[in-house]
Amino acid sequence: MSFRSLLHATILIAMWSPATPLFAADAATGRQLAERWCEACHVVRPDQQRALTDAPTFHSVAEKYTEIGALTAFLNAPYPRMPAMGLKRDEIADLVAYIRTLGPKRVDPSPPPEKDRPPETPRKG
Ligand code: HEC
Repeated sequence: MSFRSLLHATILIAMWSPATPLFAADAATGRQLAERWCEACHVVRPDQQRALTDAPTFHSVAEKYTEIGALTAFLNAPYPRMPAMGLKRDEIADLVAYIRTLGPKRVDPSPPPEKDRPPETPRKG
């Protein structure tokens, strides 16, 4: 593959990236992210049989973190037993939105109120 077509392919992939900062938290994107990055260690879907570690299922995470802010804060901070995944703010928002669809108290499909959002607006990088 020539450098040119490689570059072309890279740009195409970048354009198809699910992390689109133009939109507020999106649970469907969050689910894709969870399947890609979290599924190895966590049970991220109700129909997933098992994961490789003793990490809590996302269902139980949703039960524990009923507050968007707390879960967002957790994912923003480094955590010893999880790899640093370098999640962007909008990716975290999507993951949080998805995880909340799994919880018992799940009701609000709307984006979190302004005060619960991370302070910075995501930049397209
Ligand atoms: C390499 C394995 C691994 C990956 C990948 C991973 N986690 Fe975890 N995660 C863990 C383990 C292990 C725990 C439990 C740690 C503990 O109980 O001390 C955990 C705990 C958590 C918790 C619960 C913390 C709590 O307070 O109960 C959340 C939320 C979480 N992970 C979210 C995620 C998300 C979102 C992703 C994907 C972006 C992810 N994790 C990817 C291993 C992983």
